[in-house]
Amino acid sequence: MRFDPVKLQSLVKDVHSRYKEVSGGNNASYIPYLADVSSTLSALTVVLSDGTVCAAGDCQYPFAIESISKVATLALALEDVGPEEVQQKIGADPTGLAFNSVMALELHGGKPQSPLVNAGAMATVSLVDAKDVEHRWQRILRMQCDLTGGDIKLSDEVNQSEQTTNFHNRAIAWLMYADGTMSADPMQVCDVYTRQCSTLITTVELAIMAATLAARGRNPKTGMQVLKGHHVPRILAEMTMEGLYDSSGDWAYTVGLPAKSGVGGGIMAVAPGKLGIAAFSPPLDGFGNSVRAQKMIADVAAELRLNLY
Ligand code: DON
Repeated sequence: MRFDPVKLQSLVKDVHSRYKEVSGGNNASYIPYLADVSSTLSALTVVLSDGTVCAAGDCQYPFAIESISKVATLALALEDVGPEEVQQKIGADPTGLAFNSVMALELHGGKPQSPLVNAGAMATVSLVDAKDVEHRWQRILRMQCDLTGGDIKLSDEVNQSEQTTNFHNRAIAWLMYADGTMSADPMQVCDVYTRQCSTLITTVELAIMAATLAARGRNPKTGMQVLKGHHVPRILAEMTMEGLYDSSGDWAYTVGLPAKSGVGGGIMAVAPGKLGIAAFSPPLDGFGNSVRAQKMIADVAAELRLNLY
């Protein structure tokens, strides 16, 4: 299918202005930095598989990537240890509980179930092939850069805010260590996981990441084959099952695209073989997903008839 870039730009602009002032939701408050980001920010970007960018709103505003980083680290772990080990050690199922649920972990003997919840994401960090903590971090950061084609950087401010408040995640890391499901030093893993959540990204960069997954791992901006094409369906399956946490089923039912959210207010969605979509606005619903970003992506998907099912 071919998309007319002029019509697409006008659709992106229309959809963005339709929802940029919609009320509802609240900024994440358990991370102090996120509580202080302006709630009125909003952006929408679509990137086609040929690299065409259509963007509206605050599309150059860098926001905290948060849980969307879990997708990049999953890609790296798949490259490093392969899909069988990821499935065996982490799992590939929805938890049916919140993204930071201790109960979900305990119900399964310390096995996290999914690389896209906090426990599984830390287990994923621990599978990355690295000689020490800095090497682990640099390889994860490199993957974020390669997937976006951007110069993704750690925000010291976000990182400081998270590292000084991430006690719940530290507890999860120790629980997994006790249960033998953590493949590296738990506090170093939690440190790197917290850093990977604390990088800044724009919707343009995030839509390029989504478009790279839409193009079976080939970045449309740089032309780089970032990961093996046959790993992409597994990543998209995870995003379908757990990308929007406990509302992933409703999202699949109504929108029909694999997506991943972050508590910074960003969401990316992938239309395989076609395009990537990214939207951002800080106020979140009760599941931790941006209210406006969900609405914007849902309308783009509906108007372009992207529903996979
Ligand atoms: O670990 C945390 O709680 C955050 N750094 C990221 C959580 C997150 O983005 C959940 N997504 N909606």
